[in-house]
Amino acid sequence: MIKLGVVGHPIAHSKSPLIHRQFAEQLGVAIEYEKYDIKPRDFDRFISDFFAGGGHGLNVTLPHKESAFLLSSPATKKVSLAKAVNTLSLDKSGEITGNNTDGAGLVRDLSDNHGVDITNKKLLILGAGGAVRGILPSLIEMGPSIITVSNRTMAKAEILKTEFETLYDLGIQPYEELGKDRFDLIINATSMGIDGQMPNVSSAVLAATTVCYDLMYATEPTAFVRWGQEKHAELAVDGLGMLVEQAAESFAIWTGQRPDTKLVYQSLR
Ligand code: ATR
Repeated sequence: MIKLGVVGHPIAHSKSPLIHRQFAEQLGVAIEYEKYDIKPRDFDRFISDFFAGGGHGLNVTLPHKESAFLLSSPATKKVSLAKAVNTLSLDKSGEITGNNTDGAGLVRDLSDNHGVDITNKKLLILGAGGAVRGILPSLIEMGPSIITVSNRTMAKAEILKTEFETLYDLGIQPYEELGKDRFDLIINATSMGIDGQMPNVSSAVLAATTVCYDLMYATEPTAFVRWGQEKHAELAVDGLGMLVEQAAESFAIWTGQRPDTKLVYQSLR
């Protein structure tokens, strides 16, 4: 029995146990996958106890992704850049290794499930927080022609620009100034959707072929997805597919086996 779980605060509504149990059943792997609601001050202790007690792997969600980065060894250069970790495992010598599967999950959902190609495309990202940090390395790897980051607090966009400058020349623009250029793909990475809102962005950023992708997901269309639909984007989707794909990436890290995601996505939808 492989002992797995997801740690966050709050965690009650996490769909991760449902997803991973379906993956395990599909591949015939015996797992236990539990939710752990852990306060920030107890996080480090929880992690060492989990692995000392025979734990095999953990998913990490808000607000712990940065703490998980700080206590683990980054698995790749992309993780060092993201400074955020959503997947913990043990390496051969028993060291805690940190990975981030959010970016790979997003890229896979876009390419495999929605047929959206990022190479040589113009990308606009709304937001400049931890979620953006997590997905940027994987997006950059796909070779888009332009990435513009827009955020309410421009100082945070400027910090991102500096941190990623050896890898990519990010453009930064305040929301009010958007509208001079059109984009192929617009990603909402703000946490505003929780309140049913989205940044005030001119619809002039959209062309008829633009794809709108919300990292958030909900039972109903999110504010950003509704905006994309109303402004006649070619496609406007939420991040449920990314949730399933990032989980599949984590599952593969822990077990060496890659599950099929289609049926799991459909059952959640
Ligand atoms: P996450 O890990 O989800 O990215 P975060 O690091 O707190 O969380 O980032 C939240 C993002 O949502 C930021 O881009 C934030 O903008 P600021 O950097 O200006 O704070 C954005 N955001 C959240 N609430 C917002 C609001 N009411 N209006 C505009 N942007 C908002």
